[in-house]
Amino acid sequence: MYSIEVDKLTKIYGKGETAVKAIVDASLQVRPGELVAILGPSGSGKTTLLTAIGLINEPTHGKVILDGAVVADEGWLPGLDLKRIRREKLGFIFQAHNLIPFLTAIENVMIALEINHLTRTEAKSRATELLASLNLGHRLNNYPSALSGGEAQRVAIARALANRPKVILADEPTAALDTDNGKNVMSLLKKLAVENHSAILVVTHDHRMVEGFDRIFEVRDGVIVQETQRDV
Ligand SMILES: Nc1ncnc2c1ncn2[C@@H]1O[C@H](COP(=O)(O)OP(=O)(O)OP(=O)(O)O)[C@@H](O)[C@H]1O
Ligand SMILES: [Mg+2]
Repeated sequence: MYSIEVDKLTKIYGKGETAVKAIVDASLQVRPGELVAILGPSGSGKTTLLTAIGLINEPTHGKVILDGAVVADEGWLPGLDLKRIRREKLGFIFQAHNLIPFLTAIENVMIALEINHLTRTEAKSRATELLASLNLGHRLNNYPSALSGGEAQRVAIARALANRPKVILADEPTAALDTDNGKNVMSLLKKLAVENHSAILVVTHDHRMVEGFDRIFEVRDGVIVQETQRDV
């Protein structure tokens, strides 16, 4: 069984003469425990593919199945509770980190846990542990405005991973980080994939990080042109 199944997904922005075919007939599968990369030049459709899989951007054609449940088949399934599926099954790490400015680092992570019904004490202990594993143990009580770009990005990563989602989608998670922190993030993602049987799909330009992935899909002009299997 796959955690992510995408069958002939097409996303067209707009209509008529100005329509942009951002993704065309993309098919891929990710198993539980796999860490998979999407590589490709700017404008090739990577973010479109990720957001169309992640219930943010409605696919025009094709099928998306997440953790065994069909969520899109020629558009989103009618009656689907998008918010609930996003909250319970998905962890999203965006290019821009979207932290809540009036909450501290630890509160930004705790809120994701409390929404999913952990007690305050449980949330605090899990958030502390996660932030420490991302080398942020000394920044728990800082507000986002007092964090560096890389630190804020790591808080956002902690928040996305907090509920141990079965499907994690990350858009350039290491782009703003130095090599050491980039490697920490990659090894944390790998550990999470294996321990929680999560499927992790990562968009990246970052060739420094490529060794860590189990498989790589390359996208050009909206088309998946190559799949590379890594020997482990
Ligand atoms: N909301 C939108 N409306 C219309 N066209 C869009 C929209 N979003 C993206 N596009 C177009 O779709 C194509 C793919 O964009 P996308 O953002 O998926 O690329 P990307 O591979 O993520 O690029 P980058 O590496 O620069 O982030 C581009 O031609 C882009 O201009
Ligand atoms: Mg992008």
